[in-house]
Amino acid sequence: MYDEIVAVTENRPLTGGHFLLSVKSPRQAKAIRPGQFAMLRLLGRSDVLLRRPMSIYDVQSSNGRRGKHKTGRSAEIIRFLYKVVGRGTQLMAELQPGDRLGLLAPLGHGFLAEDYLPHAKAADEILHVAGGIGIAALLLPAGELARQGFRQRLFFGGGTKADLVGVDDFKPHMRGLALATEDGSRGHRGFVTKPLEEYLARHREKKFLLMACGPWAMLEATAALARRQGHPCLVSMENRMGCGLGVCLGCSIRVHGKGHGSYQRVCTEGPVFWADKVVWGRGNIPKT
Ligand SMILES: Cc1cc2nc3c(=O)[nH]c(=O)nc-3n(C[C@H](O)[C@H](O)[C@H](O)COP(=O)(O)OP(=O)(O)OC[C@H]3O[C@@H](n4cnc5c(N)ncnc54)[C@H](O)[C@@H]3O)c2cc1C
Ligand code: FES
Repeated sequence: MYDEIVAVTENRPLTGGHFLLSVKSPRQAKAIRPGQFAMLRLLGRSDVLLRRPMSIYDVQSSNGRRGKHKTGRSAEIIRFLYKVVGRGTQLMAELQPGDRLGLLAPLGHGFLAEDYLPHAKAADEILHVAGGIGIAALLLPAGELARQGFRQRLFFGGGTKADLVGVDDFKPHMRGLALATEDGSRGHRGFVTKPLEEYLARHREKKFLLMACGPWAMLEATAALARRQGHPCLVSMENRMGCGLGVCLGCSIRVHGKGHGSYQRVCTEGPVFWADKVVWGRGNIPKT
């Protein structure tokens, strides 16, 4: 993990208040594993003191090619896909090429190959389930799994079609794609868990590994579907964070353990957990 001041190379507006931010940081880019995140610090802003956590969406070489994450030798550019929701992300949206940012990365343990590979090998297909900006955590794992030849499918839901950003980046890695919007402007009208449920029901004889990132309710519903049909499921959590380093305990969630269970920090023990380890239900909903 490195704490660096990095330069913005691009900050491209997308639909629905989303942006694609690229920064140059060869040392950090080479160290990144799929599913990890960074803490971004806006320099010279006394009104936004805390760093903001962002998933690492993609890693590329300076000429735009994706880095090889195993060796990482060509990786130089780190990309973030973000949505403007408050003061910090609004200020991020104003960043121009050449501006500087504080970047603490890579953080968290991400999707660990030793955890998911045995299940990926046993599965007929890997199902990625994304809600809104949760999509940002899944591109690197999808790319890594595609390089290893695994079959994958994406279920992606948002409020409206403007929220379905990044779909084209996923297409080369996926055998199929199911989109959902709450207002029905694209794909299934309603939550993304509905097409997921239907797909699982149509293919009861198959084995799947699920990888999900999105709002708490979507993760909980996805975890319940996976559990009901006996599929392993990994969830990447996006709790609010103070330090990102395991110190403040602000990101803790309840997990199953001995006795009354225990707590784990999303920033250090996560952000990726096996879904059946998390204590789902109202008592554990993160404060945002
Ligand atoms: C590990 C991790 C990875 C993340 N990856 C991304 C990403 O790739 N792209 C992205 O756009 N966002 C991501 N987030 C969420 C992002 O950190 C917040 O949206 C951001 O910090 C908000 O900052 P702000 O100053 O703009 O908003 P604030 O002014 O702090 O808050 C504005 C509104 O957003 C809500 N909010 C703030 N943080 C969160 C959160 N973590 N989850 C849900 N609601 C929140 C607040 O309750 C409030 O309603 C991630 C969060 C975590 C913990
Ligand atoms: S954010 Fe401080 S312990 Fe996780």
